[in-house]
Amino acid sequence: MEATTSLLDADAVGDLVLLDPLTEESLLHTLQERFRRSDIYTYIGNVVISVNPYQSLPIYTPEKVQEYRNCNFFAVKPHIYAIADDAYRSLRDRDRDQCILITGESGAGKTEASKLVMSYVAAVCSKGEEVDRVKEQLLQSNPVLEAFGNAKTVRNDNSSRFGKYMDVEFDFKGEPLGGVISNYLLEKSRVIRHVKGERNFHIFYQLLAGGSAQLLQQLKLCQDCRHYGYLNWESSGLPGVDDAANFHAMQDAMRVIGFSPAEVTALLEVTAVVLKLGNVQLSSSYQASGMEASSIAEPQELQEICELIGLDPGILERALCSRTVKARDETVLTTLSVPQGYYGRDALAKNIYSRLFDWLVNRINTSIQVKPGKQRKVMGVLDIYGFEIFQDNGFEQFIINYCNEKLQQIFILMTLKEEQEEYIREGIQWTPVEFFDNSIICNLIENSKCGILAMLDEECLRPGVVNEDTFLTKLNQLFATHKHYESRETQNARHVMDASLPLQCFRIHHYAGKVTYNVTGFIERNNDLLFRDLSQAMWAARHTLLRSLFPEGDPQKVSLKLPPTAGFQFKASVATLMKNLYSKNPNYIRCIKPNETKTAMVFTPELVLAQIRYLGLMENVRVRRAGYAFRQLYGPFLERYKMLSPRTWPRWAGSDREGAEVLLAELAFPPEELAFGHTKIFIRSPRTLFDLEGSRQERVVQLATLIQKMFRGWRCRTQYQLMRKSQIIISAWFRGHVQKNKYKQMKRSALVIQAYARGWKVRRAYRRYFRSAASTCLANFIYRRLVQKFLMGLRRNLPPLAVLDRTWPPAPYKFLAEANQELRSIFYRWKCKKYREQLTPQRRTLLQAKLCASELFKDKKKLYSKRCRGRGLVGGGGGVHGAVLADGPIPSLQQPFQGEYLGLTQNPKYQKLHAVAKDKLVMADTVRKVNRASGKTVPRLLLLTTEHLVLADPKAAQPKTVLSLADIRSVSVTRFSDGFLALHLKETSTVGSKGDFLLVSNHLIELVTRLHQTLLDTTAQALSLHIADQFSTRFQKGDVAVTVVESAKAGSDVPVCKKRGSHKMEVLVH
Ligand SMILES: Nc1ncnc2c1ncn2[C@@H]1O[C@H](COP(=O)(O)OP(=O)(O)OP(=O)(O)O)[C@@H](O)[C@H]1O
Ligand SMILES: [Mg+2]
Repeated sequence: MEATTSLLDADAVGDLVLLDPLTEESLLHTLQERFRRSDIYTYIGNVVISVNPYQSLPIYTPEKVQEYRNCNFFAVKPHIYAIADDAYRSLRDRDRDQCILITGESGAGKTEASKLVMSYVAAVCSKGEEVDRVKEQLLQSNPVLEAFGNAKTVRNDNSSRFGKYMDVEFDFKGEPLGGVISNYLLEKSRVIRHVKGERNFHIFYQLLAGGSAQLLQQLKLCQDCRHYGYLNWESSGLPGVDDAANFHAMQDAMRVIGFSPAEVTALLEVTAVVLKLGNVQLSSSYQASGMEASSIAEPQELQEICELIGLDPGILERALCSRTVKARDETVLTTLSVPQGYYGRDALAKNIYSRLFDWLVNRINTSIQVKPGKQRKVMGVLDIYGFEIFQDNGFEQFIINYCNEKLQQIFILMTLKEEQEEYIREGIQWTPVEFFDNSIICNLIENSKCGILAMLDEECLRPGVVNEDTFLTKLNQLFATHKHYESRETQNARHVMDASLPLQCFRIHHYAGKVTYNVTGFIERNNDLLFRDLSQAMWAARHTLLRSLFPEGDPQKVSLKLPPTAGFQFKASVATLMKNLYSKNPNYIRCIKPNETKTAMVFTPELVLAQIRYLGLMENVRVRRAGYAFRQLYGPFLERYKMLSPRTWPRWAGSDREGAEVLLAELAFPPEELAFGHTKIFIRSPRTLFDLEGSRQERVVQLATLIQKMFRGWRCRTQYQLMRKSQIIISAWFRGHVQKNKYKQMKRSALVIQAYARGWKVRRAYRRYFRSAASTCLANFIYRRLVQKFLMGLRRNLPPLAVLDRTWPPAPYKFLAEANQELRSIFYRWKCKKYREQLTPQRRTLLQAKLCASELFKDKKKLYSKRCRGRGLVGGGGGVHGAVLADGPIPSLQQPFQGEYLGLTQNPKYQKLHAVAKDKLVMADTVRKVNRASGKTVPRLLLLTTEHLVLADPKAAQPKTVLSLADIRSVSVTRFSDGFLALHLKETSTVGSKGDFLLVSNHLIELVTRLHQTLLDTTAQALSLHIADQFSTRFQKGDVAVTVVESAKAGSDVPVCKKRGSHKMEVLVH
């Protein structure tokens, strides 16, 4: 509301279209009044007029950004943000490329305005890591370009000395993707010269003030500005400007943009070279021919430059002091005079700097450029140097003013001329508004055949003597009658005396005023030539960046073609720029400078009035008032506003124009507010458009609410239906589950009942059978129980494991007696097995022998079972088997079978016997041999080997009889406990010529047993053993019957043999 009031405030209307009455005074007064109120922005329709306040105002805060974000252009206070927002939204929402043209004279605030537009767009477009990076890079290009391209002039402390057009590129969402910067004609002459009160480019002062001692040392610079010829015109500082801080900010900005430290160093090195070139002094000398020549006065500076760029100082010196001229096929080296040398030096410095600036712009572009292939929308911001009228205007001012003339032309074309032409084209009733069309001035300058620039080019290329005089004469001839051209000559021809117009000058009546240009230097600057020797010297340097700035210095690329002139290049780039601007939707910011002294809030009416005039603001307002604020093709108009009428919403079936007519008729706007063209609808006042837009906004909100409502309803319905469906499924599943469980329960119960019933029936049926078998069952059970108990008890009280222990528990019940006996014998056998298993092989052999003895003698001969009573046990072996009787036949059972009783090995006496027996010895013992004739006994040694039985004399230890075991027929013994035995020999035996042997042995049992075993082993025949009381022996003299007689008294010399006759023998035993 406040904004609307501000727009309508009669004393200081926000939109000059509403001015009443419309006069120059009222317009000036309005601007002054608004300026006084610190309202520096005023509209003419959608053109913003900005008056430089020269002080910072609190109208650029983040809150202000929010206020203007998505605002309605006419609903808020005039502000540069409003036009930025309008352009940005039109770009984002209507997909129309935009350009923002900022015009005004130097110091009017163009650069500031462009920065405000950029920062606003950056603030309102969306955020994100990548987007922020791009935004930062775009914004940070400003400090870098300003450092190298801006300088203090008498009009502006931060005057842009180059033209800049920046295309910011956005994606379909309105997010910035990157950009491209184009630069136009840097005022490079400033590098070598500037008028008093001005400065060279900021970078030189910034570098010296802000560079660290180390950096300056590296660049071979000293901190004092006065030391440098290109800077020392006056004091270097600027009030309120901190060069050092700006230098650091510029370095930071370079880092953000993506310059590598090496690139920054290279850039500063080249900058230092430019500065130092200004200190290269030349001195004059004369050659032998008398020609004036120049030489380097002080080689120190040149030396340092060459060290910085990696060049042989001789090359640079030669390039600075001489020149190679090609005449036909000859190459001649001519010396240069001192002024020529200085000219070359300055040309080199200017060229290096301007090329460095171009490189800088390209390098920034490399960082911020958008990758190809993305669909983009473009917003171009043009901040070009303002119209300049100095005391002494040269080629640069001519070019700058030409550019401004072209921009004015665009403005006129788009806002005044084209608009009026469009009314006529569309068949709208229209009274033409007079305005000044500057095409004539543009044509004067740029006409390709006879324009000033074409003439200048022609003059530059013409062979022969060329100088500015011939050029001026040509202009005077050509434009003698031109309304916008004046010179002393044309004035004279018109009989006008004009002292303000010097001889060397011409004057052009620009749209913004008359400017007198001095032609001196026009040709030289237009040619912009650098001696080839200098460019070749630069190319020869090892410094990569510097070398890359002079590609034409490459001797292999020498071209005789002259490079395009500066004027030609500029004209071409301006033409491209104009084409670019024409293709976009223009938004104008027209900057006005309120005073010449850069003083805050001072308004000089005369100065402002001049600007109002040349900017054509009056005409602008008039056309705007007479015309229509808004026009649009019927199609897009209907598409945008069709929702305002139920007849056109949602679809209109007829033609677009009819649709628009129906729509607007329904909205009932006053008829004078509307005009229907052939293809477009025209709306007179912004207010009507504002109302239309307002209604649309409301309707859009309603429609959005409707869509929202429908959508929410649909979403809720679908959600509900989904929930319902889910609920039905869940309950079906749940019921099913409950029923299934119930059924399972019932089934289980039925089965239990069934089982019980069946059990009950079966039990009842079988009870009878069960009772009949009960006693057997019980008895079996008891039996089993008793058996179990018996076996468990047995297990717990097993008898000792000793073999001789025959104890065994008695059977507790009679019926277990047999089993118990069986178990006892199993246990005993098992015990014996265990015992046997742990026997040594020797013991096993001995026991086998004992067993054999038992088989032979047990219960047959008393001697075997005779127990030892009252006698001590002797001998080893221990246990029951170790008992030996002191003398007499020893009962076998307890007696251990020693085998060797003689000690054959130990006793040397028996050596011969030992040899006979050797390893085959089975038994060696002392026996008594019974004399067959007398019955008396004599001792003999008996050796039983595996093959023989040897009888030897005990004294001589000489074998007397050697019997082969095979010769033994049988053996007879008595039944009693004596040691008598008869050895019956086979009749075939040769040894036994005397007949059978009768022997008495103390180890009878062992002897017979061993004999038996040996025979068995060697002949596989058992010994034939007779145990009897009578037996027959065969002696040499015939058979003798041996009768065993038991005597009552026991004697030590039993048995006693007595011969009874020749065929009888008695053996007394007991
Ligand atoms: N909106 C503003 N608020 C405060 N000060 C401003 C504003 N616009 C411009 N200025 C002041 O005016 C000075 C000159 O502005 P600016 O550099 O934008 O002029 P210019 O039109 O670009 O001039 P030139 O053509 O020489 O480059 C600025 O340095 C600043 O001090
Ligand atoms: Mg500027």
